Amino acid sequence: MADSSRGTWTGRVGFVLAAAGSAIGLGNIWMFPFRAGQNGGAAFVLVYLAAVLVVGVPLIIAEVMIGRATQRNPVGAFRTLRPRGSWQLVGWLGVASGFVILSYYGVVAGWAMDYAWMAASGSLTSAGVDMQATFDGMLGNGGRQVLWQAAFMAVTIVVVSGGVEAGIERASRILMPLLFGLILMLLGYSLTSEGASEGLSFLLNPRFEDLTWGGVLAALGQAFFSLSLGMGAMITYGSYLAPTESVTRAALLIAALDTALAILAGLVIFPLVFTFGLEPSAGPGLVFITLPSAFAMMPGAAFLATVFFALLLFAALTSAISLLEVVVSFFVDEFEWNRIRASWTAGGLIFALGVPSATVDGFLDKMDLLATNWMLPGGGVFIALFAGWALTRGEAEGGYRGTDGHSGGFVAWRFCVRFLVPVAVAVILLQKTGLVG
Ligand code: TRP
Repeated sequence: MADSSRGTWTGRVGFVLAAAGSAIGLGNIWMFPFRAGQNGGAAFVLVYLAAVLVVGVPLIIAEVMIGRATQRNPVGAFRTLRPRGSWQLVGWLGVASGFVILSYYGVVAGWAMDYAWMAASGSLTSAGVDMQATFDGMLGNGGRQVLWQAAFMAVTIVVVSGGVEAGIERASRILMPLLFGLILMLLGYSLTSEGASEGLSFLLNPRFEDLTWGGVLAALGQAFFSLSLGMGAMITYGSYLAPTESVTRAALLIAALDTALAILAGLVIFPLVFTFGLEPSAGPGLVFITLPSAFAMMPGAAFLATVFFALLLFAALTSAISLLEVVVSFFVDEFEWNRIRASWTAGGLIFALGVPSATVDGFLDKMDLLATNWMLPGGGVFIALFAGWALTRGEAEGGYRGTDGHSGGFVAWRFCVRFLVPVAVAVILLQKTGLVG
């Protein structure tokens, strides 16, 4: 299909907003705070920051540059650069990861939609509601989860079928500023709450004695998932970017926005948790059980809870859009389908694959483990090896520089993708197989 029908961003701002929208999602607001809570608070945050810089930023650059150079979906991108050999399997793995992740991501996003609805109607925070029972009740009701999952997927499909500029970029330009506005508003509440100093010190004073080897690896895996790496999401978004834009600057900005939102989410959640004497290391229930319990005890409970779950929902939406776009770009480029057909077909199949995550106990966790423990790190190692070893130094430098003439940081970047990223990610994989740690 001709390049002109693939679409392009209107410019660097559109790209950065869409890519930051991909990165900022359930990973930041739901997972980051509970993982920090379980792994020593600020000690986890420090390791996380190091992982973002050493592993995250180099991989964002590698992915964006592969996409920008080829203007293709992940499968087409690897095939264009290395027509012989098996490199395009890395692209196939990426498209498959998009399928798997969005299948259950849509279910959890459906929970956020359900909670936003309950919060807005006032029923979530009305007197005497047992948050644990509310959450368990939702988890026990497969039909209800499937309905919300379907609603969420429909919105995602409509945005993606609108195209790169009129659909994805436009949604990001509206939702991303809204997201930061909403979280700053909540921050005002949490920083003036009684538990503010306790919550802040939980997140900002490192207690290294609480940080285990497992916590270090969790921080690394978290950086990976949160930055949408390892499956070609950034290859796909990079493929709509003009070669005149600096990849390095965009990558640093995306990583900074993503990290800022994760930390802001922690700064909103922990002061409230401490104010009401709740458990900071509550795990996955932190956002769906602990936090609404805190809201329910505050003045303006329904309003605050609505704002929070709307925030969670919008964050999930821009991420789901990027997950679907990876699969859609594959159908559009490789089969020359039109975007509308590709969006509804891919979205429909992914929805169907997600139904067991909503209805069969334990299925969602298995899909998540498959994707985040195996598919993403596996894809990430190969993308780094491709950029660091398969591409010649000249090819890599040309891709890195683009046409804007800047190759500042190239040597450091190449060292990271050749050595640090593969080793760090291989260690995550080995630990999952039980060979290490
Ligand atoms: N980064 C998103 C989050 O934090 C999830 C996500 C979106 C993702 N697109 C991705 C993860 C691509 C891996 C790959 O919620």
